[in-house]
Amino acid sequence: MKIGIDKIGFFTPHLYIDMNKLALARKEEPEKYTIGIGQDEMAVAPITQDPVTLAANAAFNILNDDDKKAIDFVIFGTETGIDHSKSAAIYVHHLLGLKPEARSIEMKQACYAATAAIQLAKGHIALNPDSKVLILASDIARYGLNTPGEVTQGAGAVAIVISANPRIMALEETSTYQTDDIMDFWRPVYSDTAYVDGKYSNEKYISFFSSVWNTYKEKTGLGLSDFEALCYHLPYTKMGLKALRTIYDEGTEADKERLVDYYQTSTTYNRRIGNIYTGSLYLSLLSLLEQKPLKDGSRIGLFSYGSGAVGEFFSGILQPDYREHLFIDKHMELFAARQEISIPEYEKIFEEVLPVDGSSLDLDVTKDPAPICLAGIKDHMRQYINKK
Ligand code: CAA
Repeated sequence: MKIGIDKIGFFTPHLYIDMNKLALARKEEPEKYTIGIGQDEMAVAPITQDPVTLAANAAFNILNDDDKKAIDFVIFGTETGIDHSKSAAIYVHHLLGLKPEARSIEMKQACYAATAAIQLAKGHIALNPDSKVLILASDIARYGLNTPGEVTQGAGAVAIVISANPRIMALEETSTYQTDDIMDFWRPVYSDTAYVDGKYSNEKYISFFSSVWNTYKEKTGLGLSDFEALCYHLPYTKMGLKALRTIYDEGTEADKERLVDYYQTSTTYNRRIGNIYTGSLYLSLLSLLEQKPLKDGSRIGLFSYGSGAVGEFFSGILQPDYREHLFIDKHMELFAARQEISIPEYEKIFEEVLPVDGSSLDLDVTKDPAPICLAGIKDHMRQYINKK
């Protein structure tokens, strides 16, 4: 039985900044940000969007009544959790009106959790072929104003439906993975911005890629020429290119040209949204699938990396007419409706954070065009609304 991605969509807040303008404000050359880092724009989350609303909006856009009847497992991958105890998946389960006969859990391992969720979902579908699993990958990446990581922030979520006989991509059986206890990037519970050793994190990303890629080749006997395209976790779009360059020489000149060309395509959305941590790899997959037609039956390789750290390489095969089941128009509308804000406006929004002393507040959701918003906090409980 084939198991894999039946539906996939993303959501990003309606506000963004231009990286040329951020570079000028930070007294850097714009090319450092647009070429050296590879980011053109960065999504900015207003206070009325949190990881729950981003994820719920992503799923709201793609699910129909049949999906809602079949989904009996919701897995929420995030490193921007809002509660030590209650899973963010339960809020989304409620906001989407999913059936009560379901499991809803949250998973954490930095940017890697959604990949673990996919592997868990595969097992669930193997045992329950008539059901569907909803996977949510949602984060707001925050390093701080005037920090080296600032240029690699972003906000957004990806929603994925995993099922039997998937219409977009069937996942292959082999995946290779690795864990090592390192401190390249982490976010202590008392901090709403990340701690990071930037250069070390780049090195570890590449060394994890090298390990899992080599093990994958040994296990499967496949090589570079067997892949039509490779997608990477993209904390910033130059990062995946650095990893891809380490394996160029394993293929022919034609392999290299094809992989670089598709790599550029796979960065289209990420260049405009920034790092969405858990969802970044899947946003890159969406860019690839939506921005350029690939042949049915193409094999796509995916490299997932979550600091701390866990890495995984796995692959999928594109299904016949997969493009008919994408939401390209909806995603283009989402981009077209975004509003650019100035750097001072972004800085003001960045500093506007939710209270951490237990006080209540009401938020004005009229300025946020997203259907699902955070309307405030009352008695220590986040108040969510669905305007539609
Ligand atoms: N024109 C073109 N390129 C330029 C340039 C110019 N005028 N000026 C500089 N550059 C290039 C540099 O040569 C460099 O290129 P290479 O990396 O190819 O050598 C690039 O721009 C970046 O320059 P710096 O290395 O000087 O940048 P920096 O010290 O300010 O920091 C960073 C860059 C380390 C990525 C930092 O933004 C950071 O710490 N980000 C957060 C951590 C991160 O994203 N790590 C990625 C791996 S960890 C992970 O993947 C998990 C996760 O999501 C966090």
